[in-house]
Amino acid sequence: MGMFEGKKGLILGVANDRSIAWAVANTILQQGGECGFSHLPDREDDEKKRNRKRVEKAIGKFSAGHPPAFLEPLDVQNDQNIESIMKVAADKFGKIDFLLHSIAFAHPNDLGGDTIDTSREGFKMAMDISAFSLIAVCKAAQPILSDNASVLCMSYFGGEKIVPGYNVMGICKAALDASMRYLAFDMGPAGVRVNALSAGPIKSISGIGAGVGKMLKMYEHVAPMGRNVTNQEVGESGAFLLSDMASGITGELMHVDCGYNAMGSPGRLTDLIDAK
Ligand SMILES: NC(=O)c1ccc[n+]([C@@H]2O[C@H](COP(=O)([O-])OP(=O)(O)OC[C@H]3O[C@@H](n4cnc5c(N)ncnc54)[C@H](O)[C@@H]3O)[C@@H](O)[C@H]2O)c1
Repeated sequence: MGMFEGKKGLILGVANDRSIAWAVANTILQQGGECGFSHLPDREDDEKKRNRKRVEKAIGKFSAGHPPAFLEPLDVQNDQNIESIMKVAADKFGKIDFLLHSIAFAHPNDLGGDTIDTSREGFKMAMDISAFSLIAVCKAAQPILSDNASVLCMSYFGGEKIVPGYNVMGICKAALDASMRYLAFDMGPAGVRVNALSAGPIKSISGIGAGVGKMLKMYEHVAPMGRNVTNQEVGESGAFLLSDMASGITGELMHVDCGYNAMGSPGRLTDLIDAK
Protein backbone atom coordinates (compact mmCIF):
# COMPACT_ATOMS: atom_id res chain seq x y z
CA MET A 1 0.00 0.00 0.00
CA GLY A 2 1.31 3.45 -0.94
CA MET A 3 2.03 5.92 1.85
CA PHE A 4 -0.55 8.39 0.46
CA GLU A 5 -3.34 5.82 0.07
CA GLY A 6 -6.60 7.56 1.08
CA LYS A 7 -4.87 10.97 1.39
CA LYS A 8 -6.06 14.05 -0.46
CA GLY A 9 -4.54 17.46 -0.85
CA LEU A 10 -3.68 20.62 -2.71
CA ILE A 11 -0.63 21.20 -4.87
CA LEU A 12 -0.03 24.92 -5.50
CA GLY A 13 2.67 25.90 -7.99
CA VAL A 14 2.93 23.53 -10.94
CA ALA A 15 3.95 25.56 -14.01
CA ASN A 16 5.31 22.70 -16.11
CA ASP A 17 6.86 19.25 -15.67
CA ARG A 18 10.14 20.82 -14.48
CA SER A 19 8.38 22.47 -11.51
CA ILE A 20 9.32 21.21 -8.07
CA ALA A 21 5.57 20.96 -7.33
CA TRP A 22 5.24 18.57 -10.29
CA ALA A 23 7.92 16.28 -8.82
CA VAL A 24 6.31 16.31 -5.36
CA ALA A 25 2.86 15.58 -6.85
CA ASN A 26 4.29 12.80 -9.03
CA THR A 27 5.57 10.99 -5.93
CA ILE A 28 2.31 11.54 -4.01
CA LEU A 29 0.28 10.15 -6.93
CA GLN A 30 2.60 7.15 -7.29
CA GLN A 31 2.00 6.51 -3.58
CA GLY A 32 -1.77 6.45 -4.01
CA GLY A 33 -2.66 10.06 -3.08
CA GLU A 34 -5.19 12.36 -4.78
CA CYS A 35 -4.26 15.93 -5.74
CA GLY A 36 -6.03 19.10 -6.82
CA PHE A 37 -3.94 21.69 -8.64
CA SER A 38 -3.71 25.44 -9.25
CA HIS A 39 -2.64 27.41 -12.29
CA LEU A 40 -1.91 31.12 -12.67
CA PRO A 41 -5.10 32.79 -13.98
CA ASP A 42 -5.03 33.58 -17.69
CA ARG A 43 -5.32 37.20 -18.76
CA GLU A 44 -8.78 38.10 -20.11
CA ASP A 45 -7.24 38.96 -23.49
CA ASP A 46 -5.37 35.65 -23.76
CA GLU A 47 -7.81 33.61 -25.82
CA LYS A 48 -5.37 30.73 -25.92
CA LYS A 49 -5.52 30.41 -22.10
CA ARG A 50 -1.82 29.64 -22.08
CA ASN A 51 -1.29 29.30 -18.31
CA ARG A 52 -4.09 26.78 -17.87
CA LYS A 53 -3.07 24.84 -20.99
CA ARG A 54 0.58 24.63 -19.86
CA VAL A 55 -0.41 23.20 -16.48
CA GLU A 56 -2.97 20.86 -18.07
CA LYS A 57 -0.19 19.50 -20.26
CA ALA A 58 2.14 19.05 -17.29
CA ILE A 59 -0.40 17.26 -15.12
CA GLY A 60 -1.17 14.98 -18.06
CA LYS A 61 2.40 13.66 -17.79
CA PHE A 62 2.26 12.11 -14.32
CA SER A 63 3.58 8.59 -14.34
CA ALA A 64 0.91 6.96 -12.17
CA GLY A 65 -1.88 7.42 -9.69
CA HIS A 66 -5.30 9.04 -9.53
CA PRO A 67 -6.16 11.53 -12.28
CA PRO A 68 -6.05 15.19 -11.09
CA ALA A 69 -9.10 15.94 -8.95
CA PHE A 70 -9.33 19.55 -10.23
CA LEU A 71 -7.35 22.40 -11.75
CA GLU A 72 -8.35 25.87 -10.54
CA PRO A 73 -7.01 29.39 -11.18
CA LEU A 74 -5.05 30.94 -8.32
CA ASP A 75 -3.21 34.22 -8.00
CA VAL A 76 -2.07 34.31 -4.39
CA GLN A 77 -2.28 38.12 -4.41
CA ASN A 78 -6.03 37.74 -4.79
CA ASP A 79 -7.92 36.73 -1.61
CA GLN A 80 -11.02 35.72 -3.59
CA ASN A 81 -8.94 33.29 -5.66
CA ILE A 82 -7.57 31.77 -2.45
CA GLU A 83 -11.08 31.40 -0.98
CA SER A 84 -12.39 29.86 -4.22
CA ILE A 85 -9.75 27.16 -4.51
CA MET A 86 -10.31 26.20 -0.86
CA LYS A 87 -14.05 25.97 -1.55
CA VAL A 88 -13.43 23.68 -4.54
CA ALA A 89 -11.11 21.55 -2.37
CA ALA A 90 -13.76 21.40 0.39
CA ASP A 91 -16.50 20.41 -2.11
CA LYS A 92 -14.31 17.78 -3.76
CA PHE A 93 -12.41 16.36 -0.79
CA GLY A 94 -14.16 17.47 2.40
CA LYS A 95 -10.92 17.68 4.38
CA ILE A 96 -7.39 17.80 3.02
CA ASP A 97 -4.37 15.95 4.39
CA PHE A 98 -1.59 17.88 2.67
CA LEU A 99 -0.96 21.33 1.23
CA LEU A 100 2.07 22.18 -0.89
CA HIS A 101 3.01 25.85 -1.35
CA SER A 102 5.59 25.95 -4.15
CA ILE A 103 5.23 29.55 -5.27
CA ALA A 104 7.61 32.48 -5.65
CA PHE A 105 8.02 35.51 -7.86
CA ALA A 106 10.19 38.62 -8.03
CA HIS A 107 10.51 41.12 -10.84
CA PRO A 108 13.55 40.24 -13.00
CA ASN A 109 14.82 43.83 -12.49
CA ASP A 110 15.14 43.07 -8.79
CA LEU A 111 17.20 39.90 -9.35
CA GLY A 112 20.73 39.71 -10.63
CA GLY A 113 21.73 43.33 -9.95
CA ASP A 114 22.45 44.73 -6.51
CA THR A 115 20.05 44.24 -3.61
CA ILE A 116 20.53 47.90 -2.70
CA ASP A 117 18.73 48.84 -5.92
CA THR A 118 15.53 46.90 -5.06
CA SER A 119 12.43 49.01 -5.68
CA ARG A 120 9.78 49.47 -2.96
CA GLU A 121 7.07 48.12 -5.26
CA GLY A 122 9.25 45.17 -6.32
CA PHE A 123 10.00 44.34 -2.70
CA LYS A 124 6.33 44.46 -1.68
CA MET A 125 5.21 42.32 -4.60
CA ALA A 126 7.95 39.70 -4.12
CA MET A 127 7.19 39.47 -0.38
CA ASP A 128 3.43 39.27 -0.95
CA ILE A 129 3.68 36.46 -3.52
CA SER A 130 6.64 34.56 -2.09
CA ALA A 131 6.22 34.85 1.70
CA PHE A 132 2.89 36.33 2.89
CA SER A 133 0.98 33.95 0.62
CA LEU A 134 2.00 31.02 2.83
CA ILE A 135 0.20 32.67 5.75
CA ALA A 136 -2.80 33.52 3.55
CA VAL A 137 -3.24 29.99 2.19
CA CYS A 138 -2.77 28.42 5.62
CA LYS A 139 -5.44 30.73 7.08
CA ALA A 140 -7.87 29.93 4.26
CA ALA A 141 -7.13 26.19 4.42
CA GLN A 142 -7.46 25.95 8.22
CA PRO A 143 -11.15 24.89 8.28
CA ILE A 144 -10.54 22.03 5.85
CA LEU A 145 -7.22 20.71 7.17
CA SER A 146 -7.60 17.22 8.62
CA ASP A 147 -6.13 16.17 11.97
CA ASN A 148 -2.44 15.40 11.28
CA ALA A 149 -2.43 17.44 8.05
CA SER A 150 0.93 18.58 6.74
CA VAL A 151 1.87 21.87 5.03
CA LEU A 152 5.10 22.29 3.09
CA CYS A 153 6.70 25.33 1.47
CA MET A 154 9.78 25.59 -0.75
CA SER A 155 12.78 27.57 0.40
CA TYR A 156 16.35 28.20 -0.68
CA PHE A 157 19.72 28.65 1.04
CA GLY A 158 19.82 32.29 -0.15
CA GLY A 159 17.44 33.05 2.75
CA GLU A 160 20.09 31.93 5.25
CA LYS A 161 23.35 33.14 3.68
CA ILE A 162 24.37 35.62 0.99
CA VAL A 163 23.92 34.20 -2.51
CA PRO A 164 24.84 37.08 -4.85
CA GLY A 165 22.10 37.64 -7.44
CA TYR A 166 19.37 36.00 -5.35
CA ASN A 167 18.81 39.37 -3.68
CA VAL A 168 15.21 40.22 -2.78
CA MET A 169 14.25 36.57 -3.18
CA GLY A 170 16.75 35.71 -0.43
CA ILE A 171 15.00 38.23 1.81
CA CYS A 172 11.65 36.64 0.88
CA LYS A 173 12.96 33.16 1.71
CA ALA A 174 14.15 34.37 5.15
CA ALA A 175 10.61 35.71 5.72
CA LEU A 176 9.10 32.48 4.39
CA ASP A 177 11.26 30.38 6.73
CA ALA A 178 10.23 32.49 9.73
CA SER A 179 6.56 32.40 8.68
CA MET A 180 6.79 28.61 8.43
CA ARG A 181 8.07 28.38 12.04
CA TYR A 182 5.40 30.72 13.48
CA LEU A 183 2.69 28.89 11.54
CA ALA A 184 4.03 25.59 12.92
CA PHE A 185 3.45 27.00 16.41
CA ASP A 186 -0.04 28.34 15.63
CA MET A 187 -1.24 25.20 13.89
CA GLY A 188 0.55 22.62 16.04
CA PRO A 189 -2.24 22.19 18.65
CA ALA A 190 -4.64 21.16 15.85
CA GLY A 191 -2.14 18.46 14.84
CA VAL A 192 -1.07 20.34 11.71
CA ARG A 193 2.64 20.34 10.82
CA VAL A 194 4.33 23.08 8.79
CA ASN A 195 7.78 22.62 7.28
CA ALA A 196 10.05 24.02 4.57
CA LEU A 197 12.27 22.18 2.13
CA SER A 198 15.41 24.01 0.99
CA ALA A 199 16.21 22.65 -2.46
CA GLY A 200 19.49 22.83 -4.34
CA PRO A 201 19.33 24.45 -7.79
CA ILE A 202 16.74 23.01 -10.22
CA LYS A 203 16.32 24.17 -13.83
CA SER A 204 12.67 25.20 -13.60
CA ILE A 205 11.23 28.45 -14.99
CA SER A 206 11.77 30.22 -11.63
CA GLY A 207 15.14 28.55 -11.14
CA ILE A 208 16.43 29.82 -14.47
CA GLY A 209 15.07 33.29 -13.62
CA ALA A 210 16.93 33.20 -10.31
CA GLY A 211 20.22 32.31 -12.03
CA VAL A 212 20.57 28.56 -11.34
CA GLY A 213 22.28 28.10 -14.72
CA LYS A 214 25.48 29.55 -13.28
CA MET A 215 25.12 27.76 -9.94
CA LEU A 216 24.91 24.15 -11.14
CA LYS A 217 28.65 23.80 -11.94
CA MET A 218 29.62 25.49 -8.69
CA TYR A 219 27.36 23.19 -6.64
CA GLU A 220 28.99 20.15 -8.26
CA HIS A 221 32.38 21.24 -6.94
CA VAL A 222 31.29 22.44 -3.50
CA ALA A 223 28.60 19.94 -2.42
CA PRO A 224 29.94 16.94 -0.46
CA MET A 225 28.21 14.56 -2.89
CA GLY A 226 29.97 16.17 -5.87
CA ARG A 227 26.77 16.55 -7.87
CA ASN A 228 23.50 18.43 -8.08
CA VAL A 229 20.28 17.23 -6.55
CA THR A 230 17.64 15.93 -9.00
CA ASN A 231 14.07 17.14 -9.22
CA GLN A 232 12.95 13.60 -8.41
CA GLU A 233 14.97 13.63 -5.16
CA VAL A 234 13.43 16.96 -4.18
CA GLY A 235 9.99 15.58 -5.04
CA GLU A 236 10.48 12.45 -2.95
CA SER A 237 11.79 14.38 0.08
CA GLY A 238 8.92 16.84 -0.25
CA ALA A 239 6.41 14.01 -0.36
CA PHE A 240 8.05 12.52 2.74
CA LEU A 241 7.53 15.78 4.69
CA LEU A 242 3.90 15.86 3.54
CA SER A 243 3.34 12.25 4.62
CA ASP A 244 2.58 10.61 7.96
CA MET A 245 6.14 9.22 7.88
CA ALA A 246 7.22 12.72 9.04
CA SER A 247 4.60 12.92 11.81
CA GLY A 248 7.11 14.12 14.42
CA ILE A 249 8.62 16.89 12.27
CA THR A 250 7.39 20.48 12.30
CA GLY A 251 8.96 23.95 12.15
CA GLU A 252 11.84 22.33 10.25
CA LEU A 253 13.85 23.69 7.33
CA MET A 254 15.12 20.54 5.63
CA HIS A 255 17.95 20.88 3.09
CA VAL A 256 17.81 18.65 0.02
CA ASP A 257 20.92 19.90 -1.74
CA CYS A 258 23.49 17.06 -1.75
CA GLY A 259 24.94 18.61 1.42
CA TYR A 260 25.93 22.00 -0.07
CA ASN A 261 24.63 23.90 2.97
CA ALA A 262 26.87 21.92 5.33
CA MET A 263 30.07 23.24 3.75
CA GLY A 264 32.19 25.86 5.50
CA SER A 265 34.67 26.21 2.63
CA PRO A 266 34.40 26.08 -1.19
CA GLY A 267 35.32 22.38 -0.99
CA ARG A 268 36.73 20.85 -4.17
CA LEU A 269 36.55 24.23 -5.93
CA THR A 270 39.85 24.95 -4.21
CA ASP A 271 41.42 22.09 -6.26
CA LEU A 272 40.59 24.11 -9.39
CA ILE A 273 42.10 27.26 -7.89
CA ASP A 274 45.25 25.32 -6.83
CA ALA A 275 45.57 23.83 -10.34
CA LYS A 276 45.90 27.32 -11.88
N1 LIG B 1 14.35 25.97 -8.91
C1 LIG B 1 15.18 26.10 -7.90
O1 LIG B 1 16.41 26.02 -8.06
C2 LIG B 1 14.63 26.30 -6.50
C3 LIG B 1 15.49 26.08 -5.42
C4 LIG B 1 14.98 26.26 -4.14
C5 LIG B 1 13.67 26.67 -3.94
N2 LIG B 1 12.88 26.88 -5.04
C6 LIG B 1 11.50 27.31 -4.77
O2 LIG B 1 10.61 26.31 -5.22
C7 LIG B 1 9.34 26.91 -5.47
C8 LIG B 1 8.85 26.45 -6.83
O3 LIG B 1 9.71 26.92 -7.84
P1 LIG B 1 10.12 26.04 -9.10
O4 LIG B 1 11.61 26.01 -9.13
O5 LIG B 1 9.35 24.79 -9.14
O6 LIG B 1 9.70 27.00 -10.30
P2 LIG B 1 8.33 27.11 -11.14
O7 LIG B 1 8.51 28.37 -11.94
O8 LIG B 1 8.07 25.86 -11.86
O9 LIG B 1 7.23 27.31 -10.00
C9 LIG B 1 6.91 28.57 -9.45
C10 LIG B 1 5.40 28.62 -9.39
O10 LIG B 1 4.97 29.84 -8.76
C11 LIG B 1 3.75 30.20 -9.39
N3 LIG B 1 3.40 31.59 -9.10
C12 LIG B 1 4.14 32.71 -9.34
N4 LIG B 1 3.44 33.80 -8.98
C13 LIG B 1 2.23 33.36 -8.50
C14 LIG B 1 1.07 34.00 -8.00
N5 LIG B 1 0.98 35.34 -7.90
N6 LIG B 1 0.03 33.23 -7.62
C15 LIG B 1 0.08 31.89 -7.73
N7 LIG B 1 1.15 31.22 -8.20
C16 LIG B 1 2.21 31.95 -8.59
C17 LIG B 1 4.04 29.96 -10.87
O11 LIG B 1 2.86 29.91 -11.63
C18 LIG B 1 4.76 28.62 -10.79
O12 LIG B 1 3.85 27.56 -10.89
C19 LIG B 1 9.55 28.41 -5.36
O13 LIG B 1 9.17 28.82 -4.05
C20 LIG B 1 11.05 28.55 -5.53
O14 LIG B 1 11.56 29.74 -4.95
C21 LIG B 1 13.31 26.69 -6.30
